[in-house]
Amino acid sequence: MTTLVTGGAGYIGAHTVRALQNAKRDVVVLDTLERGNKKAVIDAKLIVGDIADQKLVAKICRKYKVTNVVHFAAYKAVGESMTHPMKYWQNNVSSTLKLLETLQAHDISRFVFSSSASVYGTPKSSPTTENEPTNPESVYAETKLAVENILRSLAIDGLNSVSLRYFNAAGASSDNKIGEDWTTSQNLIPRVMRALLDDKFKFEVFGNDYATPDGTCIRDYIHVEDLAVAHVKALEYLESYGKTTVCNIGTGKGTSVKQLLEMTAVVAKREVPHTIGARREGDPVSVYADVTLANKVLGWHATQDLQSIIQSAFTWHSTHPNGFR
Ligand SMILES: NC(=O)c1ccc[n+]([C@@H]2O[C@H](COP(=O)([O-])OP(=O)(O)OC[C@H]3O[C@@H](n4cnc5c(N)ncnc54)[C@H](O)[C@@H]3O)[C@@H](O)[C@H]2O)c1
Repeated sequence: MTTLVTGGAGYIGAHTVRALQNAKRDVVVLDTLERGNKKAVIDAKLIVGDIADQKLVAKICRKYKVTNVVHFAAYKAVGESMTHPMKYWQNNVSSTLKLLETLQAHDISRFVFSSSASVYGTPKSSPTTENEPTNPESVYAETKLAVENILRSLAIDGLNSVSLRYFNAAGASSDNKIGEDWTTSQNLIPRVMRALLDDKFKFEVFGNDYATPDGTCIRDYIHVEDLAVAHVKALEYLESYGKTTVCNIGTGKGTSVKQLLEMTAVVAKREVPHTIGARREGDPVSVYADVTLANKVLGWHATQDLQSIIQSAFTWHSTHPNGFR
């Protein structure tokens, strides 16, 4: 019984490989390394290759007796998806279809998929439940929803899946061995850390006149180690004959950009240099998860708070300013 982790040399995949191993599962990683790093794969077998390479995936399934798949491999930059849409449809959807076809041919029936809260677009209500209508506002989000829909229909063919709709993944491993690369990540916390640690980097808060208590946007930051454990729980759910579902993965708590900067100043013992700029087009005011379903169906809940996220990110970026390079 081996779990194939696609994209396991990336940020969330690498943390999940460790969570799976902590749960005493055998793991094999498939990653092109285009956007990941082999140093992030600690103590697991890494095969460098593409999910769309059906011969290679078939060989891996046979050789390692793969029974489950956790599928991270994708491109994730919202801005890039708007300028290079074909690249996103091809890698995130077309290549995923090829992967699914190969898995079906090998009777693999359990699949956990990295979806995203971006499928909700600007939710009408927060906390946002899975019943919120989907309304993707980028090509990236469209591709995530497309794969969710494919998985929903493949349930008829006997493929059971959990699409985890992540909110804002953040932080680094508690032993400081894996974390994000601020030169490639567009996420807020790596940019805040860069503002603290790199004098040349200019950090701008996009708008402080939103209809929130302090005027800045609110998001749900989930520690990447908690997120990793959610994949183990999702596999356990599928192994207990759980049916295909989608599930929010967040903390259920909203944090404003200003609150995040204040917490960072406490952790780093100095203020984060920043300027206040204009609102960024398309930024929803407030997005945070209702996590009732994840609690109930997966038996999962977040265990680490904002301070722990920021502390781990600060330690990681202070010691790895160039990521793994
Ligand atoms: N980081 C977030 O906040 C976030 C939020 C929501 C959803 N997600 C989703 O979670 C997944 C992982 O995100 P991440 O932050 O770890 O991204 P990442 O870019 O760090 O990792 C993705 C990995 O997939 C690999 N990859 C890409 N295409 C591949 C292919 N065709 N074959 C094999 N490997 C391939 C890359 O080399 C990389 O190592 C992605 O699907 C992303 O869309 C991430």
